[in-house]
Amino acid sequence: MATQAYSCWIEIDLSALDENLTNLENHSKVPILPVLKSDAYGHGAPVVAAFLKNKGYALIAVSSLDEALEILSFVPLPILVLTPPLQSQLPLFLQHRLIPIISSLESLSALAVLAEKKRQPVTIHLKVDTGFGRLGLAPEDLLPLLNILPRMQNIELGGILTHFPAAAKDRHFTESQLRLFLELKDQVSSLGNYGDILWHAANSAAFLTLPASHLDLVRIGTLLYGQSPLVRQTPWKLAPTWCFKTRLIHIRTLPKGHSVGYGRIYRTKKPTRMGVIPVGYSHGLELEPLSTPWRQVKQALGQELKGQHYVFHPQGPLPILGRVGMGLTSVDLSKVPQAKVGDTVTVLMRRVTASSKVPRIYYQAGVIKCMFWNQQVLSPQGRVISLKSLF
Ligand SMILES: Cc1ncc(COP(=O)(O)O)c(C=O)c1O
Repeated sequence: MATQAYSCWIEIDLSALDENLTNLENHSKVPILPVLKSDAYGHGAPVVAAFLKNKGYALIAVSSLDEALEILSFVPLPILVLTPPLQSQLPLFLQHRLIPIISSLESLSALAVLAEKKRQPVTIHLKVDTGFGRLGLAPEDLLPLLNILPRMQNIELGGILTHFPAAAKDRHFTESQLRLFLELKDQVSSLGNYGDILWHAANSAAFLTLPASHLDLVRIGTLLYGQSPLVRQTPWKLAPTWCFKTRLIHIRTLPKGHSVGYGRIYRTKKPTRMGVIPVGYSHGLELEPLSTPWRQVKQALGQELKGQHYVFHPQGPLPILGRVGMGLTSVDLSKVPQAKVGDTVTVLMRRVTASSKVPRIYYQAGVIKCMFWNQQVLSPQGRVISLKSLF
């Protein structure tokens, strides 16, 4: 399918991704572990993984087994899976040589039994909860577990990690987490066996706010994809990587007092030239995306946008009228009289909520490199191609 035939699509700028990577590299003394969870934060994980592999990234991280398997069906890569495996998933972890993150003794024991049965060495990372209140071993359970680990013959400890819930806004708490983690590191060092494992803690916010947390590697998502986890400025300019586009598919003038859309929650205050875009909540369009970049865009556009939601035509913002539907949304064209059917408009939405069914179009140096749609990688002309040879 040629690009013109898509009614909505997401443009991904690989050159911008590259620029963000370079800036991260320039500001980091330790290796970067790119995080590709949630379909690479909405960028389409298979193409991003292939791109990063070509850039020399030997390890990537995803959230779940399913995410890892999707990437592996396109490109072979070592993958760290950030959420702990269910027991029923362990055979697939072994089969695909995935690196699980282990958060409990039960899970570790089950993995050890399977690894023994299959006579297959498995590398794991252990997660410690230093304050997140979610996944991980309690800090006091780490050393007892490490004391029995040498008896689990096929289990190799590759790293120990923790995660910060509030590095963007609570320095005091984040520092206390780091202190606890470093105390554990000292205690583990004194055991003698674990000198060469990787200790990691920092996400994007901690990368910026707490350099002492960089340790042996940093796990980065948000900054890689050109967004800031902080409200204040980043030390380098973030390059925008992602943009949702669609086209006006219908235009009509409604008389004064006409209701628009489901629930009839909006009525025109005057005769109104109204346009329709084929995007709705099934594509991920919610009216209150609360991410920092969305707030920043709203601030940048000023008071005018308060309480009102817009999509963006090249000639100006178009207010959304009434409720967003499942697949259609109405917009007010009054202030952009030149708008016509077929015009492209930009839609702001949270990137991770954008449906993975929406085609992704990848640009590099301003030209289309490939597309990803319907679980297939396509050439700019729409032919199915292999990702392996693309970068
Ligand atoms: C365990 C873990 N580490 C690192 C990251 C990357 O975080 P960020 O997007 O803030 O860089 C995530 C993402 O949520 C995560 O779950």
